[in-house]
Amino acid sequence: MFITLEGPEGSGKTTAVNAAVRELEKLGYSIVRTREPGGTPIAEQIRNVILDKANTAMDPRTEALLYAASRRQHLVEKVWPAVKEGKIVICDRYLDSSLAYQGGARGLGIENILNINMFATEGTFPDLTLLFDIDPEVGLARIAANASREVNRLDLEKLDFHKNVRNTFLHLAKRYPDRFVIIDASKSQEEVAKATLDVILARLCK
Ligand code: TYD
Repeated sequence: MFITLEGPEGSGKTTAVNAAVRELEKLGYSIVRTREPGGTPIAEQIRNVILDKANTAMDPRTEALLYAASRRQHLVEKVWPAVKEGKIVICDRYLDSSLAYQGGARGLGIENILNINMFATEGTFPDLTLLFDIDPEVGLARIAANASREVNRLDLEKLDFHKNVRNTFLHLAKRYPDRFVIIDASKSQEEVAKATLDVILARLCK
């Protein structure tokens, strides 16, 4: 089972899922927790190039290709082997982030980004995608209030960019209803963590 977590900045997805993972492990499930961009040494090196605030000259297509390259390496080295061993892989961000950020907000087009990602992933879609939906104004305010969360190059985009990201995610949830579940991330941390666990358990028990 391959589960991905998506959402605009400051949705609290990582905190919610950490709590859910603890419960799943207590129930005996074997979980591999990972993230994009990154998750393996080569992919983390690509991540550093993408997110470096100094790289203000980065071209949007270069950015999209780097995310796809990092994704490919991560699939080969980590996701595919773990899924093959019967583990549950839970990944912070995946292909839908490229569709929303590069395809939607950067304006490169969802179909163009889907095409390069079909090449990169050989058509590997998640079994389940949790969309932690939040108004970007609320999400960005959460990040600003959280001193331990480092601000990256994408965080520095204008509010309109982040609104576009959110709207594209909501559009993708309609396009892929079989794998998307929307979680209202404006609720309390406890409520969001509980909803996350319930959704994952429901899918595991299906
Ligand atoms: P990260 O610090 O991991 O952010 P978050 O905690 O919000 O997941 O940074 C990843 C950033 O990269 C985030 O701003 C979203 C962006 N991103 C893309 O633009 N395209 C992608 O394909 C992926 C995976 C991430």
